[in-house]
Amino acid sequence: MPDSPRTDKDVHVSPDHEAFSREAADRVRSLVESVLEEQEFFALAFAGGSTPRRLYELLADSSLPWDRIHLFWGDERFVPHDHPKSNVQLVRETLLNKIDMPDENVHPMPTSGSPQAAASAYAETLRHAFADRAHTFDLALLGMGGDGHTASLFPEDDPAPNDPNWVRAVSAPPRHDISQRLTCTLPVLNNANRAFVLVSGASKRDTVDRVLNQQDSSLPITQVHPRTSLLWLLDEAAAPTEEA
Ligand code: 6PG
Repeated sequence: MPDSPRTDKDVHVSPDHEAFSREAADRVRSLVESVLEEQEFFALAFAGGSTPRRLYELLADSSLPWDRIHLFWGDERFVPHDHPKSNVQLVRETLLNKIDMPDENVHPMPTSGSPQAAASAYAETLRHAFADRAHTFDLALLGMGGDGHTASLFPEDDPAPNDPNWVRAVSAPPRHDISQRLTCTLPVLNNANRAFVLVSGASKRDTVDRVLNQQDSSLPITQVHPRTSLLWLLDEAAAPTEEA
């Protein structure tokens, strides 16, 4: 994949978690609608974790043209898809169980067999999905951990901006409950056209400050530079004083 150009950061702060989730849903919906005026399909990558749960519930009520949207995941815990900690399960219970979505449009990360083989298989899924375009996802939804990780790119690992692999099997640091994970690599995230970084809650404020006000390059999320735009969606609790 070509090196992606650097992009400017944009930040929107909402008063609380509900308003933050509604803002994110509105922006996802308007982006999908505008991109589908120019493209046949929209490729959306989901973040895992707890922050996007309400957003996904709101997307279920947003009457998007789901038959023209392909769903992917930025990372996954290597557990069965019906496991309570699965990122597929999160999207299933908040969104997929409530909408009419063609099965062939849903591309979960495989979590059976060997993690390395599953990573290779998903890399092939992505290469096939994006074979006829210069970019990967039209929108990558990303979360951020308090340690500055995003997807399952952790500060302990080499972020590898030029990683030749599209998907990696990784072990999360011991502070995380599920160790074995699959993650899209930085080149895949940086070749997304756009990304929304979704951060909510006071526990993340110091890390947001390190990223937005101190440009702390030791944090994997600081290495994310999509091709067109990077939008930080925060609630006030997560916003450093300069951003609030
Ligand atoms: C995962 C996510 C991960 C998540 C952050 C934030 O699989 O855990 O993809 O990158 O977005 O850890 O998680 P919370 O939203 O739960 O704080």
